[in-house]
Amino acid sequence: MATGKEIVVSGIRSTGFLHLGNYFGAIRNYIRMQEDYNCYFFVADWHSLTTHPDPKDLRGNVFRLLAENIASGLDPEKVALYAQSDVPEIAELYLLLNMLAYKGELEKVPTFKDKVRLQPQNVNAGLLTYPVLMSADILVHRAIKVPVGKDQEQHLEMARNFAQRFNTRYGEELFPEPIAFNFGDNLVRIPSLDGTGKMSKSENEMATLYLNDTDELIRKKVMKAKTDSGPAEPGAPMPETISNLFLLMQSVSAPDAVDNFRLAYENQSIRYGDMKKQLAEDMVAFIAPIREKAQALQQDVPYLRRILKDGAEKARASAAQTLQAARALIGINYYQ
Ligand code: TRP
Repeated sequence: MATGKEIVVSGIRSTGFLHLGNYFGAIRNYIRMQEDYNCYFFVADWHSLTTHPDPKDLRGNVFRLLAENIASGLDPEKVALYAQSDVPEIAELYLLLNMLAYKGELEKVPTFKDKVRLQPQNVNAGLLTYPVLMSADILVHRAIKVPVGKDQEQHLEMARNFAQRFNTRYGEELFPEPIAFNFGDNLVRIPSLDGTGKMSKSENEMATLYLNDTDELIRKKVMKAKTDSGPAEPGAPMPETISNLFLLMQSVSAPDAVDNFRLAYENQSIRYGDMKKQLAEDMVAFIAPIREKAQALQQDVPYLRRILKDGAEKARASAAQTLQAARALIGINYYQ
C-alpha cells in the first residue's frame, strides 16, 4: 500500500443491516478518508462470534456488508477491505496482548458490564477480551487514527494502554497510540423516524431507513413519521419531531427545498404532508442506487471473493511486519 500516509483502521460489525445512520455516521467518513489515508477497513467477523451466530448466516452477512459498503462508495482499489478472520496475525497479536491485559480492567469495561446484564447465560472469555481483540485489530497495522463513534472511546483508551504497556515492557516504541477520529464538523446526527433518539439506536424497524429498503417501504416509513398540527405562532420553537424531519431532509434533499420548507415553517404555512412527500422522494433517490448496486454486487460472488482475497493480502503484508517486530521484542526469534 502507499506509504507516507497516516494509517487508519476501522472494523465494521458484521451483524445487522446497514441503515442511514451507519451511512452518515461511518461509511461517509470512510469514503472521505480513503483519499488521504492508508486505510484498512475490515468486517469484524471474529468479534461477532461472541454471541454464537448461526453458521448458515455468516457468509451471507459478510458478503452483504462488503456489497453495501462498496455500493456506498468505498473503493477496494484504494483501501484494504478484508475479513478479520483472513488475517491470522490479528489472532496472534491478540494472544500476545492478552498477557498484558488484566482481568480487573476488562471486567470494568461498561460494554462488558452491559453484556453481563443482558446475556448472563453467555458471559464467555471472548466477550471479556473483546477490547483486546479490538486493540489487536488496530495495533496490528500500527494505526494512529480510528474512525469510530463515541461509544467506542473506552475501547480505544484500552488500545492505547496496551500499546503503551507493550512499548514500556519491551523497551521500544513499536506501537503508536491510536486516537478516535472523524470529520467532526461534518458529523450529522441522523434521527430516528419516530421522533426519539438516533436512527442507529432505534429498535423500531419502521423508524429506521435501511440501505436495502424498497422504494415503497421507504415512502411508507417516511410518511408515517410523527408530526404535529404545525407551529402555533410565528417564531414558535421547533419540536424535536419536526427538527428531526429537517435534519433528515438536510442530509438528502437539495438546499433550496430545505430552505423553502423552513420558510414555510416560519410563516406558519407549512404542510407536513407535502414536506414528507418531498423527503420520501429524495430519500428514494438517495437510497435506491445504493440498494440496486449492492444487490448486483451480492450476485457477483467471484468478485466479492476477489476483493476479500486482495484485501487480506494487503492487510497481511502490513500485519506480518508488525508481528515479526513484536515477536523479536518478546524474544520469540529462535532462528535469527
Ligand atoms: N467494536 C466496534 C463496534 O462495535 C467494531 C470494531 C471491532 C472496531 N474492531 C475494531 C472498530 C477496530 C474500530 C477498530 O462498532
